[in-house]
Amino acid sequence: MIDKFLELHTLSKSEYLELLQYWENEEVVKRLRTEAVSLRKQYYGDKVFTRGLIEFTNYCKNNCYYCGIRNGNRHVDRYRLTEDEILECCQTGYELGYHTFVLQGGEDPYYHDERMEHIIRAVKNQFPDCALTLSLGEKSYESYRRFREAGADRYLLRHETADETLYRSLHPSSMSLKARKQCLFDLKELGYQVGAGFMVGAPGQTLEHLAEDLVFLQELQPQMIGIGPFVPHHDTIYAEEKAGSVELTLFLLSVIRIMFPKVLLPATTALGTMDPRGREKGLAAGANVVMPNLSPVKNRKLYELYDNKICTGEEAAECRGCLGRRVASAGYRLVEDRGDALV
Ligand code: 5AD
Ligand code: FES
Repeated sequence: MIDKFLELHTLSKSEYLELLQYWENEEVVKRLRTEAVSLRKQYYGDKVFTRGLIEFTNYCKNNCYYCGIRNGNRHVDRYRLTEDEILECCQTGYELGYHTFVLQGGEDPYYHDERMEHIIRAVKNQFPDCALTLSLGEKSYESYRRFREAGADRYLLRHETADETLYRSLHPSSMSLKARKQCLFDLKELGYQVGAGFMVGAPGQTLEHLAEDLVFLQELQPQMIGIGPFVPHHDTIYAEEKAGSVELTLFLLSVIRIMFPKVLLPATTALGTMDPRGREKGLAAGANVVMPNLSPVKNRKLYELYDNKICTGEEAAECRGCLGRRVASAGYRLVEDRGDALV
């Protein structure tokens, strides 16, 4: 079955489940990692792309049970960045060599369509050679269409889990997996480069759920895939749960690279939070993107999706420098390209 995977790069759900059961088997881990690294080399050489992440609002109308900034958490000091503040973050990032900006926030109705369009146009006007990625959660087809028309290039919306029952246990009944998947297909239809993804080790998650995630990704064919370990947040019902495994996350990065040789795959902040060399290990497992924080330092600690999140005290330049060194130490090269998906 492993030979079959290495040859065909695709399996059935039951075969994925069988494959995932090897995540602690050193020999298999090594074989997959070697193949993953060789595939990413083939398409991307030693390049690692950067995305400047701007966390522009920590207001959120949703109440995902695992998330630190969910609406029900009364202990969060809420903030919103103005358009000028967002542009300042971009300017700082641009000077540091970033050519992709990610505007990420909770689902915050304050940023209605006109306001978002204005921000998108301003960023694209001022930085025409940069890609703009949005990550603002679930919107209507019409809103996504307007943002796309205003100039947005990419959209990140993790599906979180492709299993109905697990999805329902992690979210209140106002949210549904069906709506989430619809958003992802809408975004694809509108011509966005789309990113999906999930947490590894979310409360109640089994290897079978993860096999389902892989099958869903195969159906969606996203250009970007974001995965990271679940990390408990002290103000959620999962405060006492175990965090997701770094090793399993690394194994999944290799599997995903093999399934999607050209995919843009970040070594995430959550991975760096769970292991001081997590992002370097992520690159060594098949990842090819890093997403340093460009948010104003005064706001960073307030965008606390999970406990002990790294980089919350650093200036933008420090994160850029730090990641450049980390990427180099893993044997790769941080580049300044937009880093669009290869078609
Ligand atoms: N641990 C790890 N990742 C989390 N996210 C939200 N809460 C947590 C947590 N406690 C992830 C979700 C979301 C992304 C922005 O952050 O997958 O889509
Ligand atoms: Fe932010 Fe290392 S990436 S300090």
